[in-house]
Amino acid sequence: MKTHMPNTISGFSKLSKSEKIEWLLDTYFSDKASARTLVQRYWNSDEKLQKLHDEFIENTITNYYLPLGVAPNFKINETFYAVPMAIEESSVVAAASKAAKFWLERGGFKAEVLSTEKIGQVHFIYKGDFTKLETFFKNIKSKLISDTAALTKNMERRGGGILNIELRNKSEQLPNYYQLHATFETLDAMGANFINSCLEQFATTFKNEALQFEGFNVEEKAITIVMSILSNYVPQCLVRAEVSCKIEALKSKDIPNPEEFAEKFKQAVSIAEIEPYRAVTHNKGIMNGIDAVVLATGNDFRAVEAGVHAYASRNGSYSSLTHCTIDNGMFKFWIEIPLALGTVGGLTSLHPLVKFSMELLQKPTAKDLMQVVAVAGLAQNFGALKSLTTTGIQEGHMKMHLMNILNQFEATDDEKKQLVAHFKTNVVTHSAVVDAISALRG
Ligand code: MEV
Repeated sequence: MKTHMPNTISGFSKLSKSEKIEWLLDTYFSDKASARTLVQRYWNSDEKLQKLHDEFIENTITNYYLPLGVAPNFKINETFYAVPMAIEESSVVAAASKAAKFWLERGGFKAEVLSTEKIGQVHFIYKGDFTKLETFFKNIKSKLISDTAALTKNMERRGGGILNIELRNKSEQLPNYYQLHATFETLDAMGANFINSCLEQFATTFKNEALQFEGFNVEEKAITIVMSILSNYVPQCLVRAEVSCKIEALKSKDIPNPEEFAEKFKQAVSIAEIEPYRAVTHNKGIMNGIDAVVLATGNDFRAVEAGVHAYASRNGSYSSLTHCTIDNGMFKFWIEIPLALGTVGGLTSLHPLVKFSMELLQKPTAKDLMQVVAVAGLAQNFGALKSLTTTGIQEGHMKMHLMNILNQFEATDDEKKQLVAHFKTNVVTHSAVVDAISALRG
């Protein structure tokens, strides 16, 4: 018997955009007119542009805006950048800009790409003798590679391609489980499609060749491919960014006592190195900067997040991505993270604002972008730790949040001007803002 499930639908994706919206309004909304108006207000009046966005995903009903901000004054390896950041959190761009300016006056950021290797795996089940599997793999390794020739031609012409394929025995952790563990150089492409296509070809060749391998018995021939997929854990696709200066050079309006500041700052980093509860928040602040640039440049921030956090736990305990030393009067602060980014392919040639961000960054190579993103993370962490170890973050945070509260109360431009002036010398709390608005409005 068919059961009727309320509020569900089959064939939703086949409806037109308006039909989809109408079904949603009918099914889930009490004030349909307002919801319809809202959804339509966020459409772009340029139909071509709207269609482009509609087609990025399935079942698009409208656009979801995030602000695209810019943090200027970044000096990275002698090049100056204004860094695009797509993010909703009020204090992030301000903190990045402040950190960029601070280090601009102290020599800027140094960044270096340490490695660029990407990884993909074919996961399979084999029931038999491992030494036979090893012999089989040795026999067909070159065929695994040559069968991908049509896929790798262009990448190889540009200097990239498949670096190596290894057979890995994982059967002690999971019975009968083995892998083809492959490494790739994908140059300026993030490489997901390239890697996955190569892996699927490896899998096909591997399975077919096993059926014909005379060294296998019937059961050994029946290899089961479980899946073929790239890994977002890329510990050999690493970038490092650093700032350093003499301790006394840290002196500034906010840092009257640089020795005390440097020591406390280093303590804060050391705490994040050994205490996972703190490390997660510490790294979250780093990701504020990283994700914002990754998103603005059309890269996959979920992939970056997953890979970065795995890297943060690589020694068995979740730890800080940044490190700090004080040696011979020198303050040094650095980050080392894995980043698989692309500056060609994917959204980079499709999304107009991504193209804008790429031009703003002077058409970076993937390596350039890795450096900019790592610097954004380091700058963000510097800003957060500087506030946390001196004034606390709430002062700056609430100043930035003031505008959000004023917007919640639909403050006019004139009210905003007066209240921003008022809170220049008064502590911002939610209730203080509410009181001030009430007082202003009589
Ligand atoms: C807030 O988004 C990020 C911080 O909590 C980071 C940190 O604590 O280091 C301020």
